[in-house]
Parts: sequence; C-alpha cells; structure tokens
Amino acid sequence: MQNLANKNILLMGLRNKSSIAWGIAKCIDAHGARLIISYETDKDEKNVKELTKDFNNPILIKCDVSSDLEIENLFNEIKEKVGVLHGVAHCIAHANKEDMKNNFIYTTREGYSHAMDISAYSLIVVSKYAKDLMIDGGSIVTLSYYGAEKVMAGYNIMGAAKAALEANVKYLANELGPIGIRVNAISPGPIKTISSKVINDFDNIYEVVERKSPLRKSVTPTDVGNAAVFFLSDLSSSVTGVSLFVDNGYNIIGI
Ligand SMILES: NC(=O)c1ccc[n+]([C@@H]2O[C@H](COP(=O)([O-])OP(=O)(O)OC[C@H]3O[C@@H](n4cnc5c(N)ncnc54)[C@H](O)[C@@H]3O)[C@@H](O)[C@H]2O)c1
Repeated sequence: MQNLANKNILLMGLRNKSSIAWGIAKCIDAHGARLIISYETDKDEKNVKELTKDFNNPILIKCDVSSDLEIENLFNEIKEKVGVLHGVAHCIAHANKEDMKNNFIYTTREGYSHAMDISAYSLIVVSKYAKDLMIDGGSIVTLSYYGAEKVMAGYNIMGAAKAALEANVKYLANELGPIGIRVNAISPGPIKTISSKVINDFDNIYEVVERKSPLRKSVTPTDVGNAAVFFLSDLSSSVTGVSLFVDNGYNIIGI
C-alpha cells in the first residue's frame, strides 16, 4: 500500500538506528513518499546518509532548531529542491542532563527555556515555514509523551515541555485548519533511544509499561511509524488537533 505516493515529507530528528524517527522514516519511505530529512549536527550526517542510502532519492539537510537562520535555510532549500511540501514529522526534543537528574524543583531558568525552546517552540516555528510550502494542504505530526498528562518520576522538565507541545498542537491545528493543514501528536510508550537514556529510572518505567499494558508488550519505532503514516496520509483527512497514544493501551491503566 502506498498511502504517501507523490508526497514530499520533511522528517526532523533522525539521529541513529535507535531513533523513533528511523522507524517513522522507514514507514514513510515504504509508503512511497520522497523524504527530506533534517539532522541536528554535522556529526549526525554520516549516520543519516548511511541509514537512508536505499531510500527514494532522499534530501538530507542539517538543521539545528535553536537557530532561526538554520530553520529558514532548511525551508529555502526545500523550496528550491522540491517546491511543495505535503507533510512534516517533527521528532525533536532536548533537555539539559542536570535538569533530568535533579528533582524538578531545581530546574534552572536556562534549562527550562532550553527544553521549551527545542522541544515545544520549535514546532511553532517549523509550522510557520512549512505552511508556506503546503500549497495543496498538508499534515504536521509531532511526538509527545504520557508525562505531559501524568507525573512520570524523572521526566521532569520534559513533562512540562510535552504539555506545552500538546497545547501547541491544538492552537496550530485551529489556525492552520482553514488552509487545509492538519496538526496532530503521537504519544508513544517508552522506547529505548539515546534520548531516553537521560531519564532517571527509565528501565523501570519501560519494564512496568511492558508488563502492565493491556497488550503486554513494548512499543517499537515501527508502531509509531505506522501511526505517523496514518496522520501524514489522507487516511486521517478529518483528524486534527489530537494526541494519539501508541502505547499498547498503558494510558487506560490506573494501578
Ligand atoms: N524514547 C521514548 O521513550 C519516547 C517516548 C515518547 C516520545 N518520545 C519523543 O520522541 C522524539 C524522538 O526522540 P527519540 O527517543 O527517538 O530520541 P533520539 O535521541 O533518537 O531523537 C531526538 C532527536 O532530537 C534531535 N534534536 C535535539 N536537539 C535538537 C536541535 N537543537 N535541533 C535539531 N534537532 C535536535 C536529536 O538530534 C535527535 O535526532 C522526542 O520528541 C522524544 O521526546 C520519545
């Protein structure tokens, strides 16, 4: 099934094989889209090139979302190379290590701004540029986490950042809906990645979720990728402003 044939999709946040973005990238490619992939640092370039070498003519562009200039350059290059954009998968988050290790109450002013900037604000600015290239309408999808809604020990500032991200999704969905652009979030269960390594007690969370979720298994990047294809394709043409759990049902469990 090629649910994304003839679509140009920007995927942001591919680091390595364990990235959720890698699971999403494979699903998007399998569904026939042309991928534009942005990565954060020059160091990531080699990995990303190697991973995507069998994709359908991917375009790889460096973009650190803390830089307005790099974001502007990214979209200028996309405009020049493909003209029209149909979708964006935003898979980016970051918090300083010390703000993840200490108790939440010790979050620094700088650390709070940094986590909000990279993990929540970036969706707003990316959407602003993306909408100008989405002349046939489009779909933007981002990645949240259950820690936006409930206290997950050790998730700290990222919980606040994901709550802001989910609010951003709703406000963007409302503003962009009239021009045919949908904005949604996927909220995956815990997955072992470089980013998850900085979450205190992550292994315990992972084990509990696997054991207690109704489907009694852990979530894979491919599970998230399949949900992303749904959001990026016309299959979800009447769905906007939602956050969808892809967590084997863990969110319905009380104790
Ligand atoms: N791993 C999990 O359990 C889990 C669960 C729910 C949601 N998420 C979310 O999934 C997304 C992807 O994370 P992941 O777990 O795959 O880890 P990851 O470390 O593979 O991906 C995080 C990505 O963010 C990018 N990034 C960080 N700062 C950036 C910047 N300034 N500019 C551009 N890119 C930047 C990194 O380069 C990396 O590619 C994040 O939003 C994360 O919060 C992860």
